[in-house]
Amino acid sequence: ELGYFTYDPGFLSTASCQSAITYIDGNEGILRYRGYPIEQLAEHSSYLEVCYLLLYGELPSATELGEFGNHITRHTMLHEAMRRFMSAFRHDAHPMATMVGVVGALSAFYSDSTDVHNARQREISAHRLIAKMPTIAAWSYKHSIGEPFVYPDNKLGFTENFLRMMFAVPTEPFVPDARFVRALDLILILHADHEQNASTSTVRLTGSSEANPFAAISAGIASLWGPAHGGANEAVISMLDEIVAEGRPVQHYVDRAKDKEDRYRLMGFGHRVYKNYDPRARIIRKVCHDLLSGLGEDNPNQELFDIAMELERIALQDDYFKERNLYPNVDFYSGIILRAIGIPLNMFTVIFSMARTVGWVAHWMEMMADPKSRIGRPRQLYTGYVARDYVPLETRA
Ligand code: SDX
Repeated sequence: ELGYFTYDPGFLSTASCQSAITYIDGNEGILRYRGYPIEQLAEHSSYLEVCYLLLYGELPSATELGEFGNHITRHTMLHEAMRRFMSAFRHDAHPMATMVGVVGALSAFYSDSTDVHNARQREISAHRLIAKMPTIAAWSYKHSIGEPFVYPDNKLGFTENFLRMMFAVPTEPFVPDARFVRALDLILILHADHEQNASTSTVRLTGSSEANPFAAISAGIASLWGPAHGGANEAVISMLDEIVAEGRPVQHYVDRAKDKEDRYRLMGFGHRVYKNYDPRARIIRKVCHDLLSGLGEDNPNQELFDIAMELERIALQDDYFKERNLYPNVDFYSGIILRAIGIPLNMFTVIFSMARTVGWVAHWMEMMADPKSRIGRPRQLYTGYVARDYVPLETRA
């Protein structure tokens, strides 16, 4: 018995930690942040409100949300030396490489909030990380296209501010399309947290050694980068682009995914926990459909969406996928929305890392606030030699 839940002993032995932040039922396709269903948060909430909920455990009052918003906006700026640091990266560096490097270096600029045993400093670091990720992300993009960095405008909302830093140029006014702001805010909500996935477990293990929070989040970004994890949204679009370019029937790619020799995978399909439809994918598919419908039939992304729907339709009827409980996951449709907004492919996982920062930080704060928290130390099943004596070099074959 743990809180409201009972677990069978087998599951308890696999659990890496206890947490009250996010609940997933992989068989039923359930996802809740602090007990609130993701479907209701997607319909009624905002990313900033979800940040407050994940960090503090309750939905904020209007006053609390206003104060939280002020705390976040006051931290959106970066130390000016950071501009020079970011400009030193090769222009064609993958933005995720910049994110790993720059976030890891934040402790060199904000060392006044790195005492992990001080609750107030932990909270300041949490606010700094949530607030600065959009600025770092947008500046990594601007650096890659040789355009001047755009400073945050704290009169704007969180997501609108990010889109402005991404796409505004000094030579002309820029107002983000409200449809894009809402669609991106939804994507951020849906990616905000997801229990003990690879990157969150990385953050917890790194933070358990009492490493500073900026280093722990940088480790999480590195883990998320992999195509089996957060890099899948980029890989899905590359797969859909390939299908468009090759012009073969969609069935061909479903058949390739079943061919053991080929090792080809339908990116955006399958999940370690969900053996049912990922609830986030269901929401994102509707957001994608509604956004593209509003952009008109000649929108080039409509073809990608149609191919994705055809892939889903065929795969969900196929025994190979049904037997393995392979369903679309959160990454299957998200990339089409990001491309429709005008976000380049190499920024997709950056968007995921920006969204997931609040989840990583919430889990780190939960762990560090627990006085019984100790350094993580996973064990192994040793499969090597039992014992043997040293063989001098001159006698070896
Ligand atoms: C995320 O953990 C999280 O919560 C992550 C995440 C989050 O919010 O943090 O939800 C975000 O990372 C979503 C997952 C994004 N990744 C992808 O879409 C990449 C493609 N998917 C796969 O690589 C795979 O499905 C995983 C990695 C997601 C899950 O791998 P599992 O559960 O370990 O499954 P597996 O590799 O053991 O495969 C089981 C079987 C195998 O076939 P058999 O050996 O039994 O014959 O299913 C097959 C696999 O070959 N399979 C696939 C497949 N995924 C698994 N076959 C074709 N296409 C696929 N995508």
